[in-house]
Amino acid sequence: MRYPPIVKKIPHLLHGGDYNPEQWLPWKDKIWKEDMRLAKLAGINTLSVGIFSWTALEPVEGEYHFEWLDEVMDMLAENNMAAVLATPSGAKPAWMSGKYPEIMRVNAMRQKELHGGRHNHCLSSPVYRQKTLAINTKLAERYKNHPALGVWHISNEYGGECHCPLCQEKFRAYLKEKYKTLDALNVAWWTTFWSHTYTDWAQVESPSPIGEGNLNGLRLDWRRFTTEQFVDFYLHETSPLHKITPDIPCTTNLMGTYPGINYARLAEVLDVASFDSYPRWTSTEKDVEVGIRTAFNHDLTRGLKGKPFMLMESCPSATNWRAVAKLHRPNLHMLQSIQAVAHGSDTVQYFQFRKSRGGPEQFHGAVVDHEGTEKPRVFQDVAAVGERLKGLDNVVGADTPSKAAVIFDWNVRWALDDAKGFLQDKTGYEQTVVDHYGAFWKLGIPVDVIDSTRSFDKYDVLIAPMLFLLRDNAAERIDAFVQRGGTFIATYASGYVNESALAFLGGFPGPLKETLGIWCEEIDALFPEDSNSIEWQGKSYRAFDLCELIHAEGAEVLGAYGSDFYAGQAALTCNKRGKGKAYFIAARTNGDLLKDFYGFIAKDAGLKPVLVDPLPEGVTAQVRDNGKTESVFIMNFTDKDKQVKGPSGTIALAPFEVKIIERDSQSS
Ligand code: GLA
Ligand code: ZN
Repeated sequence: MRYPPIVKKIPHLLHGGDYNPEQWLPWKDKIWKEDMRLAKLAGINTLSVGIFSWTALEPVEGEYHFEWLDEVMDMLAENNMAAVLATPSGAKPAWMSGKYPEIMRVNAMRQKELHGGRHNHCLSSPVYRQKTLAINTKLAERYKNHPALGVWHISNEYGGECHCPLCQEKFRAYLKEKYKTLDALNVAWWTTFWSHTYTDWAQVESPSPIGEGNLNGLRLDWRRFTTEQFVDFYLHETSPLHKITPDIPCTTNLMGTYPGINYARLAEVLDVASFDSYPRWTSTEKDVEVGIRTAFNHDLTRGLKGKPFMLMESCPSATNWRAVAKLHRPNLHMLQSIQAVAHGSDTVQYFQFRKSRGGPEQFHGAVVDHEGTEKPRVFQDVAAVGERLKGLDNVVGADTPSKAAVIFDWNVRWALDDAKGFLQDKTGYEQTVVDHYGAFWKLGIPVDVIDSTRSFDKYDVLIAPMLFLLRDNAAERIDAFVQRGGTFIATYASGYVNESALAFLGGFPGPLKETLGIWCEEIDALFPEDSNSIEWQGKSYRAFDLCELIHAEGAEVLGAYGSDFYAGQAALTCNKRGKGKAYFIAARTNGDLLKDFYGFIAKDAGLKPVLVDPLPEGVTAQVRDNGKTESVFIMNFTDKDKQVKGPSGTIALAPFEVKIIERDSQSS
C-alpha cells in the first residue's frame, strides 16, 4: 500500500529542518546565500520557517512585515525546496503581553506568569485567538500560491496548561456539557468521601497543589479538558489555512509520549502526524534500550494516523538541554535518521539548520556549526543521510504492515499516575508498554502502537499491558476481537477502574473477567530488593515490582509463582474463548520472559519476522511496503560487529550500521 507523498510535488523522502533565518537578517546577503549553498550540499529539499517569528512578522500591533519572509520563501523556491511554513503562535511578542495581559498563563499555583519563554499562551484568551487568526489568515493569503509552500507547521510543541479565570469558566462549561447535573459529577468523582461534595458549579476549580488535588476523576477530566483546549485551538489556528489552502496538509509537532495531551485525540484533527525525536544515545551497549524506546515513539506517532508521519525534528549532534551532551559516534546519525524512516517516517528533519550565535540554544547541535562551512563531521554526516535518502524513493508513502498491536493509552497512563496504592509514583506504565513492544522489536516482527479506542480489525494479536482504566466499550470490543479468533494478552493491573476512575465492583479485571477467565483477588507490591518468579515451560523467570494473586475461572494455568505465600498459584494463564485465546501475565517480568513468551505467541498466531529468526542481539529488522517493493531495514544498535544470517547469505553490520535490502512485496 502506498500513500501520496507529504508534499505532492516532491515524490522523495523529505530532508531538512528548522530554519530560523531572521536571526541573521542584518547579515542576510552573506549568510542566507551561504545557507542555500550548504543546504544543497547536504541534500536538503525542505526547510521549516516562521516558527516563533511573530515579532519579526508583526513588530508593532497590526503592522506586518512579510518582506523578509517573502525573500526566504522565494529563495527556497528558487532552490527547489519546499517550505514547512509555521504559524507563529509558539511564542508571543512582548507588545502583546504588555497590552493584553490576559494572554499570559496562570499556573496551577494560581500565579500569573510574566512575559518570556515560549509555549505559554492562554488557550482561552479571546485576544490571543483573534491575533492568531489575523496573522494566520495573512500568512495563508500571502503564500497560498507560493511555489515553496509545502506543509503548514502549526505553532510548536503545544503543551502545558492554563488555570486563569477564563480557562476555569471553560472547564466548568465542559463539565456541565459532560455531566449535565452536579449530582452526576459528584458520583463520578466520588466526592462524598472527605466532604468534597460540590453544591454549586462555581465551586469547581482545576486541580491544584494548594487546592483540590485528590479527586482522581477531576484530575482525569482536567487533562481531557486540556486536550480539548488544544484540539480547539488547533482547529481555530487551521480554520483559515484549510479554507485558503485546502491542499496543503497541516500538522503540529508532537513529543512522543508527552503526558500533558492525549495525542490520540489531538491526532484526529491533524492531516499528518509529526514528531520531534531526541533519543538519549549513550554510544554503549545501553543503546539497544534507547533504540527500542525510540522505535516505540516512532511507531506510536505512526499509529496516531495509521500512515506515514514526519520526523519533524531531530538533532544531528548533541542537544544542549541534557546534563551530558554526548556526541553521536560514527554511524549513529545515519542510524537514528534511517530508523525513523524504517518505522514509517517520510521525512528526516533537524533542529536546527544553522546554529544560533546566542540565545538559549546557542550550543545545540545543528547542521551548520558556528564554524560555518561543510567541513565539520556533523555536516558530512547530514550530507551522507541526504545522499542515502535520495536512493529511497521506493519508501515514499510506503505502508508499515503489521498484524500485531500494542495498546498505549493516555487515559490509562493518567489514571495510573494518580492511583494511590500499588507502587505509588512508580507504576511504570510507559516502560511496561515499551517492554512488551520491545519483545517484538527483538524478534523483528513489526507492531503497531495504538490507542484503545482504535479499531482492532486488522490485527491477529493485541497486547494491552496494564490496561488499568477501561474506556467506553473497550472490554466488549476486546471480547469480540477474541471471539472472532484473535489472540489477546493482558497483564496485572488491568480492568480496575472505569473512565471516571471508579473501581469496578464484582472482582478484577472488571469487565474483562470473562474474556480472560480469571479473577484477580489481590495485588502484591514488592520492595526493589525483593523478587519472585514465574515458572513456565521448565524455566524460571524473574518477577518483580507487582505480582497479582489470581484464580483461574475457566482459564488454563500455564505458569505459576515460584515463591512466597502464593507459590504454586497461577501466574500465567490462557483462556480459550470463541475462536480465540486470551492470555494473562500476572506479574511484572523482564525481557527474558517477554521475548520467550512473544516468540511462542508469534508462532502460535502465525506472525512472521521481517527477515529471519533469530536475529543477533541488539539487531532488528523493520519493513516498509509500497505494494510492489518492500524495503527491509536491518539495524545494529550495538557498538559491536554483527552478522545476520539472511535467507540469501550473511549480512555483516558494523557498529550502529544500518543496511537496506529491497525485495518484491509479499502483500501483493
Ligand atoms: C524542541 C523545540 C525546538 C528546540 C528543540 C531543541 O523540539 O521544538 O524549538 O528547542 O527542542 O532540542
Ligand atoms: Zn487561561
